[in-house]
Formats: sequence, structure tokens, C-alpha cells
Amino acid sequence: MSANHLTIEGLRVETIDPQGRTALVDGVSLTLHAGEVLALVGASGSGKSMTCAACLDVLPPGTRRVKGSVSIDGRPCTATDLRGRQVASILQSPRTAFNPVRSMREHVRESLRVAGGGADAWADVRQAMRDTGLDDPERILPLFPFEMSGGMLQRMMIALALISRAPFIFADEPTTDLDLIVQREILDLLDHLKGERGLGILLVTHDMGVVARLADRVAVMEAGRIVETGGVMQIFHAPHHIVTRRLVEAHLSLYRQEPAA
Ligand SMILES: Nc1ncnc2c1ncn2[C@@H]1O[C@H](COP(=O)(O)OP(=O)(O)O)[C@@H](O)[C@H]1O
Ligand SMILES: [Mg+2]
Repeated sequence: MSANHLTIEGLRVETIDPQGRTALVDGVSLTLHAGEVLALVGASGSGKSMTCAACLDVLPPGTRRVKGSVSIDGRPCTATDLRGRQVASILQSPRTAFNPVRSMREHVRESLRVAGGGADAWADVRQAMRDTGLDDPERILPLFPFEMSGGMLQRMMIALALISRAPFIFADEPTTDLDLIVQREILDLLDHLKGERGLGILLVTHDMGVVARLADRVAVMEAGRIVETGGVMQIFHAPHHIVTRRLVEAHLSLYRQEPAA
């Protein structure tokens, strides 16, 4: 499970449209290190989700990746290599990520099948569930998605990410659909996993509060391009690009603070 960095280079996603192709993601390059949270921020529609989906080859119909590569520690990786093995995904609405007619136990079996778990795999599963705050695995494993709250499902999705032993996580708006208390618990959990397991987390969010709370570095997107990348302190205190300045100012005005001079 050890890997040092994941690099995305020159990613371009276009619409498939006979009238003419439109770039939705254009020239996106990023490096995500083990043991860091890299926040990918930007307005709604700026291309954050498309960037993640393009790396993992799970783009929506009508769009396609036309350029770009992903490598881990300098070795080129196909989307199949990445998915589940090198990169686990945590999505915005956990309810849609689970198969409604399958129990948690069946979801775990599928993750173990991909990860190739050994004899003590189920002990690891129970530990991963406890690590995410699902304290009673025996009670939860037989449950179906409709029997669980959004917060429990989000924890389960993170547990599945741990079971996969992937060194990197793509978390696309992982707390947007949760209430504030659960949001906070999930963010604390991601922070803990970064430190404890040295995971590299690409955290997609439009919430600068989440960025301030969790990110080490920040990449700012607008209209399919990265317009600024920097450490979290630089982004908040000395933003260069107008888009970054607007995001920071909007965040600060929400808390009735003046932006840094
Ligand atoms: N299936 C699709 N076909 C064509 N364009 C799409 C499709 N899905 C999303 N888009 C467009 O792609 C752009 C980037 O979307 P997305 O990556 O979802 O934004 P974000 O995650 O930053 O909110 C947006 O302009 C959006 O309208
Ligand atoms: Mg999105």
C-alpha cells in the first residue's frame, strides 16, 4: 500500500458532440503526495468532478478523456489499475454509491475480492469499521443501505476505502449531504486517516471552511483549468488569482471577517 505520489498530467475531457467539441477539463496537471490533503476547489461546474472521474475512467455518458495520463511514483497507471487498488473513491451522496439490494457484508466481499484480502481479511474489515466509528460491525454488516443513515453510509464508504488498502483517496464533496455534526466527524476522521495511515487525499470541495480545516495544499479550478496552486496559508493569506481571491473573500465575509490585507 505504500506509494509516494500520484501525478495527473495534461488531462483533457471533451464533450462528444457532432456540432463541435467543448473542453470541460483542459490541461489539468496535479501531484498528490502520500500523507497530505490536496483540496481541489472552484465554483460549481468548474470541472472538479470531471477531473476525478476522468482519472478513474468513470466519466458520464457524452464526455470522454482525450488527453492526459496518471502515474504513481513515476509509473504510468491505467484507470483499471487505479480504481480500487491505488485510488479509493468517496462520493458526495453515499446512498447512490451503494447497491440498494445488497447488504454491507456483500459490499465488503466485493471490496475484498478487488483488494485480494488474506485469511485475516475479516478481522481487518471489523477494525476498519471501528476506525471509522462503526463500533458494532456485527450489527451493521447485515444491514442494507435503506436501514442506515447518511452518516453511517459515509463511514461505511470510508471503511471500504480502508479495506481496499489503496494509498490514495479521491473524496468528491464527501460531506456536502451530511448534517453539520456528522460533517465535522467525517472531516476529523479523514484528517486522522491522513496522519495515521499516511493516505494521500484529493478532497474536492466548494467549501473554503472545509479547506481551512483540512487541506495542506489547494488547487483552484475555473472553467476546466487549474488557475492557482499553493499551500493552504498562501491561498488564504496571499491569493494570487482573482478566482482564488473571490473564493477566500466569500468565505471570510460569511464569517464577517476582513480578508487579509
Ligand atoms: N454528461 C455531461 N455532458 C456534458 N457536459 C457535462 C456533463 N456533466 C457535466 N458536464 C459539464 O462539465 C462541466 C464540469 O462539471 P463538473 O466537473 O461536474 O463540475 P464541478 O464538479 O466542479 O461542479 C460543467 O460545465 C458541466 O455542466
Ligand atoms: Mg462536482
